[in-house]
Amino acid sequence: MNILLLGAGGREHAMAWKIAQSPKIQKLFIAPGNPGTATVGTNLPIAADDFPALKTAVTEHQIDLVVVGPEDPLVKGVTDFFAADPLLKTIPVVGPDKYGAQLEGSKDFSKQFMFRHNIPTAGYLSVTADNVEEGIDFLKTLKPPYVLKADGLAAGKGVLIIDDMKEAITELESMLDGKFGAASKTVVIEEFLSGIECSVFVITDGKNYKILPEAKDYKRIGEGDKGLNTGGMGAVSPVSFATPEFMQKVEERIIRPTVEGLYSEGINYKGFIFFGLINIGGEPYTIEYNARMGDPETEAVMLRLKSDIVDLFEGVAHGNLNEKEVVFDERTAVTVMLVSGGYPEDYDKGKIISGLDKVEGSIVFHAGTTEKNGHIVTNGGRVIAVSSYGAGKDEALAQSFKNAQVIDYEKKYFRRDIGFDL
Ligand code: AMP
Ligand code: GLY
Repeated sequence: MNILLLGAGGREHAMAWKIAQSPKIQKLFIAPGNPGTATVGTNLPIAADDFPALKTAVTEHQIDLVVVGPEDPLVKGVTDFFAADPLLKTIPVVGPDKYGAQLEGSKDFSKQFMFRHNIPTAGYLSVTADNVEEGIDFLKTLKPPYVLKADGLAAGKGVLIIDDMKEAITELESMLDGKFGAASKTVVIEEFLSGIECSVFVITDGKNYKILPEAKDYKRIGEGDKGLNTGGMGAVSPVSFATPEFMQKVEERIIRPTVEGLYSEGINYKGFIFFGLINIGGEPYTIEYNARMGDPETEAVMLRLKSDIVDLFEGVAHGNLNEKEVVFDERTAVTVMLVSGGYPEDYDKGKIISGLDKVEGSIVFHAGTTEKNGHIVTNGGRVIAVSSYGAGKDEALAQSFKNAQVIDYEKKYFRRDIGFDL
């Protein structure tokens, strides 16, 4: 079959790498892709949210199935666009429709959903300009630190964790006033949960689901999890505290009620669900949902997925995911993200990347790169994900760190302590 994958980051290169290994694949296209995806498929110069151009490409290249990598096209309704078009409606899209994508696109929607289905999560109150006083009263019932979240998508910057009550009130007012534009016209105030986080991934056909390998990502820029939040600096799979006992609780209390809740509410959800979880003394709580796979978790998770991912996509398309098998690779997989100096604040682009051809024993996924005058150059904050297998995390990490030295560009930075807390 011919598949079109939407997106341009490390997650999409890792997915493309996995899709390309399937005996079922004839042609793989990526829109817009990056120099890494171009080594395993054909890039199309189309933005992932340019729906009319996607339609033309789907017809021209006889695409049989579309897989959506990032959240943006989902939240903008790419699945609905396909479903509403007479020529496209028979082409399955792996990714929820706009309504279902609110699990990620609206924190208020996802909190209401979790409460409706008794899914363990932090207590909260949603606040708009109309109930600011109620919001302040709610803050006063909480212990610090205070968690304020912009309801909508805010490029990973919309969550503030604040120690001081006065500052929290000021920030609440400034968010409602448009600090994150329309995304913070509603603010979700949450009780702070203290524990260790991990990411659990599920693929669902709307009724049946399969659990994929879990991972832990490292969000902060600095070692020891210090400094500003980033898109993610590395990941490890499996996660040592995600024991069979813990995962059973996750499935019973969180995954199953979520998929059943979506189904019972008639929500058309075919695609990935990313559960951002926190382990509090062995008990799982849901921090957030995402309507897609994680980045950089995917750059480790794809290494641990032994099953044919295209077979799983067919299960999503035909509604028979229950008949499919997900087999995990027993080895550990890790990824270490090489980023641009200055990231997640201002950074330069266009730095020539050397050493990519000298990498041995790791799999390199391109995140923010482009081609210029015959060179691969940096083109984003997160540049290259260096993924490796190992008998355990130390072995896998040593391999990735070794190759992280082999690849070079001006102002390269990476965290040398990925996995330190496992
Ligand atoms: P979110 O976008 O909702 O995942 O939030 C981003 C990050 O903020 C999470 O990965 C957590 O590290 C942190 N966070 C979010 N909500 C809470 C909470 N209720 N308690 C503690 N930390 C939180
Ligand atoms: N690594 C976290 C995310 O993809 O949102």
